[in-house]
Amino acid sequence: RQNKKNRALEIYGLVRDVFRFWLSKEVGLSAVQYLEKRNLSQEVRETFQLGYSLPGWDHLVRFLNSKDISSEELAKLGLIQAKETGRYFDRFRDRIMFPIWDTQGRVVGFGGRTLGDDTPKYLNSPEGEYFNKGQLLYGLHIARRGIREQGFAVLMEGYLDVVSTYQHGVTNAVASLGTAFTREQGKLLMNYTHQAVVAYDADEAGIKAAIRASEILQELGCQVRIASIPEYKDPDEFIQRHGLAGWSKIIDAALPLVHFKLTQAVKKVGLKNSTAKRSILQEVLPNLAAVASPLELEEAVRYTATVLQLNWETVLAEIKAYKANNR
Ligand code: UTP
Ligand code: MN
Ligand code: MN
Ligand code: MN
Ligand code: MN
Repeated sequence: RQNKKNRALEIYGLVRDVFRFWLSKEVGLSAVQYLEKRNLSQEVRETFQLGYSLPGWDHLVRFLNSKDISSEELAKLGLIQAKETGRYFDRFRDRIMFPIWDTQGRVVGFGGRTLGDDTPKYLNSPEGEYFNKGQLLYGLHIARRGIREQGFAVLMEGYLDVVSTYQHGVTNAVASLGTAFTREQGKLLMNYTHQAVVAYDADEAGIKAAIRASEILQELGCQVRIASIPEYKDPDEFIQRHGLAGWSKIIDAALPLVHFKLTQAVKKVGLKNSTAKRSILQEVLPNLAAVASPLELEEAVRYTATVLQLNWETVLAEIKAYKANNR
């Protein structure tokens, strides 16, 4: 079993090297041009071991077959697929390849981005024995040092957000692999830090997902704040315009969950009448009830009271009632 795992890891590592080799050659020119267009430096491409999968149907199969790796084995690892005819073809074709590592930096899968705008934009390795999206955080083995040094982690949506912000000096960021952030990912992150800033995309989906991820982290006992990215759609685009200095301001201005939710809710429904107030309060009550630190709770209660123009005693009484009802 251990042997089998070692063999799998060896193959993933080899495949990463093949993708890197292709990127470095004439055949990878269009991919290099794409990466240049995205302003990703040679250095950061190497740090993140970016590669390129060739167009055509079976370059990878044929190369690996020639190294005595069978198609059946490659298919089990999600690297190739069988056609009805029984012939195999490469899963990743004509894509920028992002290796995905486990916490020890061993490749366990890939994400591949198109050079254009065909769909899916990103194709990932299928879920399998070694690749479980809900249990991995992209870039964690690279970010662990930055997380330790800075005392907190930044959670982002995309591979490219992590890579691009790293190039600008953000060394403590990880990404949640596209799917919804899971408790397993929360626990994994908390092996390294109990402080996090969620910096998802600025669109509606990103805001919703950021709230959900923060709730999960908070439930696990992590201190969490949510960053808002003004003007641009994600951390990558923001940092390209505003650099590390701008990024630091965004991190400093990140809001605790309750503050963030209140801000969003007031923006959405306003404070027209007591019904509106009540519904906003209902929305943040579960989050207020989940705040573990007394200091943080006092701040959150005061803030809620100010925003909703209520006495803080009222807010506290509502929290008590909520807790009593939800025991
Ligand atoms: P986004 O859709 O936010 O990427 O996906 P983007 O910012 O517009 O495009 P790029 O990366 O700047 O070119 C964010 C993340 O969601 C996952 C990937 O992990 C991606 O990094 N995703 C997205 C998928 O897995 N599949 C998709 O089709 C799209
Ligand atoms: Mn811990
Ligand atoms: Mn997005
Ligand atoms: Mn982007
Ligand atoms: Mn994005």
